[in-house]
Amino acid sequence: MTKDNIILGIETSCDETAASIVKNGNTILSNVVASQIESHKRFGGVVPEIASRHHVEQMTLVLEETIQQAKVDWDEIDAIAVTEGPGLVGALLIGVNAAKALAFAKNKPLVGVQHIAGHIYANRFQQEFDFPLLALIVSGGHTELILMKEHGHFELVGETRDDAAGEAYDKVARMLKLPYPGGPEIDRLAQSGKATIDFPRAWLEEGSYDFSFSGLKSAVINKIHNAEQRGETLKDEDIAASFQASVIDVLTTKTLRAAKEFNVKQVIVAGGVAANRGLRTELLSQFEKEGIPILIPPLNLCTDNAAMIAAAGTIAYEQGKRSGLDLNANPSLELL
Ligand code: KG4
Ligand code: ZN
Repeated sequence: MTKDNIILGIETSCDETAASIVKNGNTILSNVVASQIESHKRFGGVVPEIASRHHVEQMTLVLEETIQQAKVDWDEIDAIAVTEGPGLVGALLIGVNAAKALAFAKNKPLVGVQHIAGHIYANRFQQEFDFPLLALIVSGGHTELILMKEHGHFELVGETRDDAAGEAYDKVARMLKLPYPGGPEIDRLAQSGKATIDFPRAWLEEGSYDFSFSGLKSAVINKIHNAEQRGETLKDEDIAASFQASVIDVLTTKTLRAAKEFNVKQVIVAGGVAANRGLRTELLSQFEKEGIPILIPPLNLCTDNAAMIAAAGTIAYEQGKRSGLDLNANPSLELL
């Protein structure tokens, strides 16, 4: 029996200050998330300066709490994993500097983690990965289909050519005057609406696995404006349900087609939009019908957290990746 690997993860790429301790990349010992949503709500989105300030205030408290909850001593912790990018540079820097200070003071190896790799590895708390697998990533900044043939290796199958899925949700929510973050609000409204409006589906060229959501977003704006000009009233619930139906249709259809073409053993879903009830239900039912195993993280592991960073960091650590104390935040760090 090999020794357990215990990794401390730190995540501050956007508006959650998070720290977590994970054993062997698949068991959460503690997972603390301090959300700043309330502070950003009145501005209708994340204000980078405010995010950084909150991270500074919360970081040590969140770290102390996660260590206490996990009931581990510092000598049991094997390495410190931290999100190095992508994200807001000022926000990332707080986590990176906290991780570097701890790595230096406690003499621990430091491992920089790419945020989207973290979202993917949030699925490993449910089940071991079975390669080759296809990952559908749907977050505030990303919409991608990624093929993984082994741990830590990512091949791009398709990506958005304009807005990310979460971005489209947030923009449509703003048009409907819903509070930030808009995704969960649209999700909630859509439950009570009917998909009566036939919004476009951007299938793109034959065989393409890329996505595009900006046309859909414009179609929603036009529909709302035209209705206003004609003095008609559209139900917000129906707009939300119709918009959501278009997003889900494209995401599900393309993921299913790619899963078959690449003959994968497993499909995993990752990122904030994976918390969407409509998307979860449709993906589960379509993949069950096809007999392809699919994993979707529980709601609290879909949105930003540090357990997923520790999980991805564990793989990187086991593969020998080490970052130096010159590790820097990289706001546009790519997965591939
Ligand atoms: O992964 P995430 O927490 O942060 C990024 O790394 O981007 O994703 C945040 C995005 C936001 O756009 C938010 O509106 C969306 O995920 N989101 C949702 C839901 N919950 C969060 N979108 C649709 N339905 C939801 N239930
Ligand atoms: Zn994220």
